[in-house]
Amino acid sequence: MKVIDLRSDTVTLPTDEMRRAMAEAEVGDDVYGEDPTVNALEELAAEMMQKEAAVFTVSGTMSNLISVLAQTRRGDEIIVGSEAHVFWYEVGGASALGGVIVHTIPNTTDGRLEIEDLEKAIRSKNIHNPPSTLLCLENTHNRCGGAVLDVKYISAAAGLAHRHSLRVHIDGARIFNAAVALKVPASELVKDADSVSFCLSKGLSAPVGSLVCGDRDFIDRARKYRKMVGGGMRQAGVLAAAGLVALRTMIDRLAEDHRNARLLAEGLRLIPGLVVADNVPTNIVLFSLPPAVSGDIFVKEISSRGVKLSPRGGQQFRAVTHRMVTSDDIDEALSRVDACLRSLR
Ligand SMILES: Cc1ncc(COP(=O)(O)O)c(C=O)c1O
Repeated sequence: MKVIDLRSDTVTLPTDEMRRAMAEAEVGDDVYGEDPTVNALEELAAEMMQKEAAVFTVSGTMSNLISVLAQTRRGDEIIVGSEAHVFWYEVGGASALGGVIVHTIPNTTDGRLEIEDLEKAIRSKNIHNPPSTLLCLENTHNRCGGAVLDVKYISAAAGLAHRHSLRVHIDGARIFNAAVALKVPASELVKDADSVSFCLSKGLSAPVGSLVCGDRDFIDRARKYRKMVGGGMRQAGVLAAAGLVALRTMIDRLAEDHRNARLLAEGLRLIPGLVVADNVPTNIVLFSLPPAVSGDIFVKEISSRGVKLSPRGGQQFRAVTHRMVTSDDIDEALSRVDACLRSLR
């Protein structure tokens, strides 16, 4: 039985081309700035995002953390969505290590922060208030079902933040999914941001790695913080080589993952009792089980039938499409989910 793993696009394995590039990578000591493959990856990332510079990190979590550290001071306040990855899943690093207050405001279901809420959340300059210094947006939005923020919205939110002297960070772990869905270059989506992080090891299939891009001063500070948190790597060109293949060959095919996610959503909607998110703009499908079916039992039962899903608490589940799941696998996963739910009713 083929296991169909829909837990996350992070389960994608490196391609043969990536493995060859890794084996043959020209390397050096990157802490001395002497790894030519890392340097090439950072240059390509900066060029693709139309920013001055970039720094290679081990993970999206590290990229977001050093982006916060390099743009805030202890006691500052950062504004993030209530569903943001930075808030939910990064072990509170921004507060624990950066000493910043994380001020959450509600995310709309399509991943935005209402401009009025944002305006209210920005602190006035008053002796009682911590300074608001950074706004974090997320694109695509993981907990909001792969929602996409478009250029117009980002410009409006960033414009407001900048008028109040906040800097703007975009957690773009899946920024290329957003770019492919909107049919715009990723650089357009980050042109109003001061910093952007994006991942190589999600839909782009590289084994490890993420980049932070921004102006040169900011990247110099971020690089120093990367070292502080133990992220200074040595012959990291072995990893960067796979990242170069990812950026050169893996972006356009994300459209296929988006098509498969829509197929999956359409199929799930036909299964009695399942409630499926209306909008599936990229590769993430959120759905919930009928109240009579226990989420804990379902997840065990469906995984014994060879379909892996991410439980999101209670009746809620997440399925993510990626390179290692074909449209035939989607059909097969749907019939297994259907059979599983019939057996549990
Ligand atoms: C939106 C978003 N940001 C950041 C991350 C963190 O990436 P990593 O798992 O590489 O630390 C993820 C991971 O899923 C994510 O979905």
